[in-house]
Amino acid sequence: MKYVIALLLFLTTTLGYSFSDQMNEPLFDKGFEWCVATSAHQIEGNNFHSDWWAFEQEGHIKNNETSGLATNHIELWQEDIALMKELGVTTYRFSVEWAKIEPKKGEFNEEAMMFYVNLVNELEKNNIKPFVTLHHFTLPNWLRLDGGWANKESIERFELFADFVYKHIGDKVNYWITTNEPMLYLLGGYAFAEVPPMKNTWADIGAPLVNLVKAHAAVYKLLHHNRNQEESRTPIHVGIANHFRIFKAHRAINPLDQVAAFYAQRALNNSFLDAINDGELVLYFPTMINLRVHIPEAKGTQDFVGVNYYKRDEVKFIKKAPFLEIGNFSNKEASDLNWEIYSKGLKKVVEKTLKKYDVPIFITENGIADKSDSKRPDFIASHLKVLSNIKRGKSRILGYCHWSLLDNFEWREGFDPRFGLVEIDYETFERKPRDSFYYYKSIIRKNK
Ligand code: BGC
Repeated sequence: MKYVIALLLFLTTTLGYSFSDQMNEPLFDKGFEWCVATSAHQIEGNNFHSDWWAFEQEGHIKNNETSGLATNHIELWQEDIALMKELGVTTYRFSVEWAKIEPKKGEFNEEAMMFYVNLVNELEKNNIKPFVTLHHFTLPNWLRLDGGWANKESIERFELFADFVYKHIGDKVNYWITTNEPMLYLLGGYAFAEVPPMKNTWADIGAPLVNLVKAHAAVYKLLHHNRNQEESRTPIHVGIANHFRIFKAHRAINPLDQVAAFYAQRALNNSFLDAINDGELVLYFPTMINLRVHIPEAKGTQDFVGVNYYKRDEVKFIKKAPFLEIGNFSNKEASDLNWEIYSKGLKKVVEKTLKKYDVPIFITENGIADKSDSKRPDFIASHLKVLSNIKRGKSRILGYCHWSLLDNFEWREGFDPRFGLVEIDYETFERKPRDSFYYYKSIIRKNK
């Protein structure tokens, strides 16, 4: 009996200690960036000159919605910065809208750029670091009419835009994303017919993909060059935000589902990153055609990997193009968009990414569509827990951006999905922080 009591005492104290030790341990090291992310088209409003604006008027959005005034951030931006200040974030990731800056080919709009100059100054006053995305899904409509990324002139056009932005705010921005989720964006346009140019053949994806890799590489060099001209030469970090997803064969013993899941994961998670890491672009199609292009100038053009992670999907092979069907077919616990909540996936993608590419990572997006806000707190907690438990290279995880600060225009899905820590009333544009806003705030404050 004596031994049993001693054993029990030993177990409770040991477990007790390890539990409280864990509770007391900070989640991340000093210098970790706490962040929220948004994108211009989804929050600002009145993006008249963009390709998405034109696309929306053609009736492609759920319930025939259009982005319209979005969250009216263009007028309420100071209120939004005040919210970030209250939240306690150290970094804000946002995008600069190319279609507003260059509404007509070659005509740059100083007034539109002033919006971002003021935004960055106000962030600075509030001790929040700006993290800038240059391309987040939208293009000026004139460029779409000229062929978009399929036209190789887009490379030079992108450089001119990036240079203009740098000249206005560059000296204050140390983190840059050239392009957001390039593979998801191009697969959506060329393989899954979800966004312009609405194709589902895979056949024409080559030219825009190669041009976007080259455009990234050119802008990577341009931003570094511009920074080197400055006296301060503060280190600048340039990368892309890559969409990572875990794919699993729907029918575990079906080899075609296995192969489809493998190709989907490889295409989305690695094709673009491999190209800007080693200068070799390889894309396996779920058909006999493959794409292989040597792009030497892209080699080594990333200082960090931006990780956007949301979910796991099941994959079924189907006989006709696009050859795969993707979804939460087994009805696993999910968000309002039926996206499976799978925090372990974050660990898998981060560990693999750290191992594969010799650069640090930044979680540039992670969040959930959850109108009732009943799942978001757990979602945040479980993903941060997983992230902080990554032993290998913990110090190489630079920060975490929650998607998103505000409810916003969720592309094809319109305004229905609610990703915000802050709820938007779309009649009045009133901002109401949800409980998860205060929950994230307390995590940031305590680093626990
Ligand atoms: C995109 C965001 C989008 C979010 C939620 C990411 O793929 O970068 O623009 O709102 O996911 O779907």
